[in-house]
Amino acid sequence: NKAHAWSARFSEPVSELVKRYTASVDFDKRLALFDIQGSLAHAQMLTQAGVISQQDLTDIQRGMEQIITEIQNNQFEWLLDLEDVHLNIEKRLVELIGDAGKRLHTGRSRNDQVATDIRLWLRAEIDQSVDLLKQLQKALAQLALEHADTILPGFTHLQVAQPVTFGHHLLAYAEMFGRDIERLQDCRKRVNRLPLGAAALAGTTFPIDREYTATLLGFEGVCRNSLDAVSDRDFAIEFCAAAALIMTHISRFSEELIIWMSPRVGFIELADRFCTGSSIMPQKKNPDVPELARGKTGRVTGHLMALLTLMKAQPLAYNKDNQEDKEGLFDAADTIRDTLTIFVDMIAGIQVKAEAMRAAALQGFATATDLADYLVKKGLPFRDAHETVALAVRECEQKGCDLADLSLEALQAFHPSIENDVFDVLTLEGSVAARNHIGGTAPERVRIEAQRLLEQN
Ligand code: ARG
Repeated sequence: NKAHAWSARFSEPVSELVKRYTASVDFDKRLALFDIQGSLAHAQMLTQAGVISQQDLTDIQRGMEQIITEIQNNQFEWLLDLEDVHLNIEKRLVELIGDAGKRLHTGRSRNDQVATDIRLWLRAEIDQSVDLLKQLQKALAQLALEHADTILPGFTHLQVAQPVTFGHHLLAYAEMFGRDIERLQDCRKRVNRLPLGAAALAGTTFPIDREYTATLLGFEGVCRNSLDAVSDRDFAIEFCAAAALIMTHISRFSEELIIWMSPRVGFIELADRFCTGSSIMPQKKNPDVPELARGKTGRVTGHLMALLTLMKAQPLAYNKDNQEDKEGLFDAADTIRDTLTIFVDMIAGIQVKAEAMRAAALQGFATATDLADYLVKKGLPFRDAHETVALAVRECEQKGCDLADLSLEALQAFHPSIENDVFDVLTLEGSVAARNHIGGTAPERVRIEAQRLLEQN
């Protein structure tokens, strides 16, 4: 039973199943490089504080160099017997350098060690995701710029509401992803604090300098209570919440891509490399990537729920429950990274069928509100204007034509104040161009907003 770090205390080994049940090395070994980074900073601090010698530090650094090489060359032997990434690396270090390796764990526990590793890893993940979100915003802005003048029907209740520009529609998602960036950046501040020094739960008797370790690791500060430092995973929950929202936005966008690509709608084509065919129906081109992204949203939302539930009944301080924080967190980060990477590429390859969009916008009386606004400008109270236009729509429906197809005389029958200039507002172009204010759908606004996004990212 010598394999265990605490073996002297135990008289019988655990069963094979319990060993597998309690071990985490299969999944936490991906923290290895962060674990080593944390250990090196801890060792440097211990040296500075006079707790270990300069020679110990030199040995530890040399041993860790070699371990990094072994891991990178896939030569490192991960042992289930050694439970987790921390004990595996420590054991190898002792094998390589002897007593100095045994001194590394002075003033430290796996409890503050693992909390540090996760934070270092998560900080790097956040930075990557922020970068991908910015690329996504850029891709959306680029396409929006190309389609600042392309008109499609805007919907409420999935019923034709008012014409909007396609660029404006795309920039709605750029706004959502912009808030996702802010959320991740805000979460990063709380991720970026140092737990090391908390040791198991109460701190340590050694004269440590936590601020120094924090500086070495690029943390913005230290966790100010040792019990809290080793036990809470709220920072991981925050990240999962931000990830779940990212996926929720991706999922809404996916839903629209799928609808737009349906032959019944036919607004866009996705590049073939994001679609698959059917094994039985030769005509099929299915939007698999957006469908999968919509589906994967469920698992990320699930990870958020799992982490909240994991945390909710834990007494202070560390409990082994927390070992369960990793797989969901890893998967959430992997899922958003892969999804965002694919979407950046997929958006750039969207082929827009502007004619189909325009034809759809011409159906469903999308400019009815414009006619009502026109009457208001001629002096009618809005409610009366609304009623007047409703009557005109009803007549069009009976005749099977659009508002713009009615003659001036026919329109004047609904209200005498209608003049020839009415046709400016009844057209799709007139309708969108008139909404020229911050946040409006006018092509001019779309160009300004898209340009702003392209410059800022
Ligand atoms: N593998 C553990 C985890 O992931 C490391 C901390 C173990 N601490 C302990 N006291 N058993 O949380």
